[in-house]
Amino acid sequence: TSPVSPPSPDSGEVNYQKVYNQIADILEDNDWDDGSWGPIFVRLAWHASGTYDKATNTGGSHGATMRFAPESEHAANAGLKAARNKLESVKTANPAVTYSDLWSLAGVVAIQEMGGPTIPWIPGRRDAEAIAATPDGRLPDASLGANHLRDIFYRMGFDDREIVALSGAHALGRCHPSNSGFDGPWTASPTIVTNGYFKELLEKKWVEKKWKGPKQYVDKETGDLMMLPTDLVLIQDRSFRPWVEKYAADEKLWFNDFANAFHKLQELGVPRNGSEKVYYFKRTDEQ
Ligand code: HEM
Repeated sequence: TSPVSPPSPDSGEVNYQKVYNQIADILEDNDWDDGSWGPIFVRLAWHASGTYDKATNTGGSHGATMRFAPESEHAANAGLKAARNKLESVKTANPAVTYSDLWSLAGVVAIQEMGGPTIPWIPGRRDAEAIAATPDGRLPDASLGANHLRDIFYRMGFDDREIVALSGAHALGRCHPSNSGFDGPWTASPTIVTNGYFKELLEKKWVEKKWKGPKQYVDKETGDLMMLPTDLVLIQDRSFRPWVEKYAADEKLWFNDFANAFHKLQELGVPRNGSEKVYYFKRTDEQ
């Protein structure tokens, strides 16, 4: 039997729009990175769900096993403790909301509040014990190539178009030497959801950064922006590149594909019967 229990029915007792607003309230912070916890909340939601393996139906956003070692210590998760701690105040205010729902919802809030598309969201994830954690190595390694990206994302059930769409999240946030060894932001507006990642990939000339750190790229003109080896793969691979071009030219198309792919990512490994209520949250500036 699975070490993860079935989802709790959505009793309607939790006002999720209210929880959404509480998360939105803690995003802005001039003492954190570029002034927002949004990017690291997106990364937390992604790393909690990106462990999914469809062949064995293990991992995924159900469980929140990143609370425990060894998953909390997996190299890919370096730095995410700060995001988990930051969300504790919202957990305390809403004890009925599981950590797995909270982290997933925080990703959705961050995307919407930073100007991204509305992401359909469904509650009901149950938290699991450490025993349900998946082995290390399920998240992508930024130093590898196209085959690796396909191995990792096909394992979750994504196709090439979805791999490119999801990667557009790198418009947000930055790499921190203390976390991953890499350094710098992908775009000049790392707290706003735009299709800028795809535009930068195509428009800038990317050269290898001269330093002692891991192999990464910087834009030749200013050296201020960066790309990981796995980012550049998207313009080098015959099947990925057309999607980069389409998303760079059409932000609406990317918003739509990204919303679908991020929703799918958040559903990985969560048992559903199809009758669950789907939430579409209002941005705080629309309320
Ligand atoms: C950050 C790798 C896909 C969202 C990072 C970092 C690395 C990385 C190395 C820097 C972490 C740090 O130093 O703090 C990769 C690789 C991917 C991938 C190899 C394979 C395609 C994704 C996906 C999403 C995502 C699918 C979301 C849908 C983010 C965000 C940040 C980030 C928002 C910034 C976090 C911050 O500013 O603190 N990623 N990532 N990434 N990643 Fe990815």
